[in-house]
Amino acid sequence: MPIPAATYGEVHLLPSILSADFSRLGDQVAVVMDAGVRIIHVDIMDGHFVPNLTIGPAVLQSLAPLVHGRGGLFSVHLMIEKPEDFVDDFVRAGADAVSVHVEACPHLYHAVTAIKALGAGAGVAINPGTPVSAVFPFLDEVDLVLVMSVEPGWTGQKFMPKAIRKIRDLRRKAGPALDIQVDGGVNEETLVPCAQAGANVIVAGAAVYRSSSPRRAIRSIRATLKKTYLCTACEG
Ligand code: DX5
Ligand code: ZN
Repeated sequence: MPIPAATYGEVHLLPSILSADFSRLGDQVAVVMDAGVRIIHVDIMDGHFVPNLTIGPAVLQSLAPLVHGRGGLFSVHLMIEKPEDFVDDFVRAGADAVSVHVEACPHLYHAVTAIKALGAGAGVAINPGTPVSAVFPFLDEVDLVLVMSVEPGWTGQKFMPKAIRKIRDLRRKAGPALDIQVDGGVNEETLVPCAQAGANVIVAGAAVYRSSSPRRAIRSIRATLKKTYLCTACEG
């Protein structure tokens, strides 16, 4: 069940379950899906590429019946060394799209090809310190580019405005046929310049799960995102 490529004109808010209460992960996923979310962002960290550890394929697999059973999808963000060694495990566990970091992957073509061969959407991610031109050679091959707007590793960090220019440059270079995901420190305020610059897929962790009501946060953020992005897209 791959995520359809090139949803330009379509905007998505992807809650990151990194900020959720892991003691009741199923409920936390259900809450955002009840509020209209279709795609769940899953952060995988290995303690090497980033100095933090999260979950492995088993957790994804246990959530898959809930998410896929409701017509939802998983967008998996691999912040791990040698991501190509784990692509197969995550797709088999239920990943519908998999993003690998250019900084972690010297043979990026192989990794992207492997993801697509497994039937999932393929993404490349870049850290704040990596120039956006690093992904330009791969734009014909990938379905999405994930622009990090914090150093990867933790939820709840402050948005880095340097991501906005990268998003703008990327949208200009790639045109409409690319999903541009922005990830890190995104909330109802910081999403506005991102959407105006051309990001159509917004990841939000703390802004959703550390709010007083994830349901209300989803509704409010989605409304702002749609208004901002679609207005900008209409104006060309
Ligand atoms: C950070 C992760 C993000 C993170 C976002 O390394 O890639 O997906 O969970 O959380 P917030 O929105 O709180 O920055
Ligand atoms: Zn992420």
